Amino acid sequence: MTGRSRKPLVAGNWKMHNNHFEAIALTQRLAFTLQERDFKAADIVVLPPFTALRSVQTLIEGDKLKLGYGAQDLSEHDDGPYTGDISGRMLAKLGCQYVLAGHSERRQYHHEDDAVVRAKVQAAVRAAITPILCVGEPLDVRQQGGQLGYTLGQLDRCLDGFPTAQVAEFIVAYEPVWAIGTGEVATPEDAQEVCAAIRKRISAVHGDEAGRGVRILYGGSVKPDNMPAIMAQPDIDGALVGGASLDAGDFVGICRYRGLSATT
Ligand code: 13P
Repeated sequence: MTGRSRKPLVAGNWKMHNNHFEAIALTQRLAFTLQERDFKAADIVVLPPFTALRSVQTLIEGDKLKLGYGAQDLSEHDDGPYTGDISGRMLAKLGCQYVLAGHSERRQYHHEDDAVVRAKVQAAVRAAITPILCVGEPLDVRQQGGQLGYTLGQLDRCLDGFPTAQVAEFIVAYEPVWAIGTGEVATPEDAQEVCAAIRKRISAVHGDEAGRGVRILYGGSVKPDNMPAIMAQPDIDGALVGGASLDAGDFVGICRYRGLSATT
């Protein structure tokens, strides 16, 4: 599989924004704007908060929209006395196709380490949901030039033991922590350096099929104007978008990074 034979994927991580009414409004705006050719050109996915998933599901299924959807987190357990947690099975029952695991905000505010994140990736696999594993270095590590070692260490620990065929279907999002919500976007070359290293490491550890198949996204202050240069990089297969995914026009602009005519 060459770089361009992996279908691009653009995912909007809404974080803790949009109650279910607002989520319906945003999904409807996306449904109204996105066209068949947009869905042919890329997998387009929204990741609402848990409380909005049912509403988004109802809209997407009812109107047969081609928009994918998923959740921002899941429990590492399938069921049991875990107050406040949501299992992969519950998400699968809501039709979720994707789930984030190990977003830096979960790592930072909920103290999720790589062992927990690995258990969450396993839980996603048990529920037949595609995990979007998030990795990426903080600012001090970047300033010391340690981004490759740091990010590949996270990757190794979170994917330890997963077989080739599974990893080939996974999605990895490289999100340098210093670029999230800061307006400070990594240069396309910086993002490519780490994404290429991620692919190489996955090939070496999990096999060539996994390295060729895994889709690698970049995340961190992605906007319509910087998306084309990011997507010109051979090892970047899409974007995980935070702030700009809350605006339908911006999100659609990001999805149309090749220009409207190129997707016809
Ligand atoms: P921003 O696009 O707001 O920088 O957020 C990136 C992110 O964390 C997506 O998961």
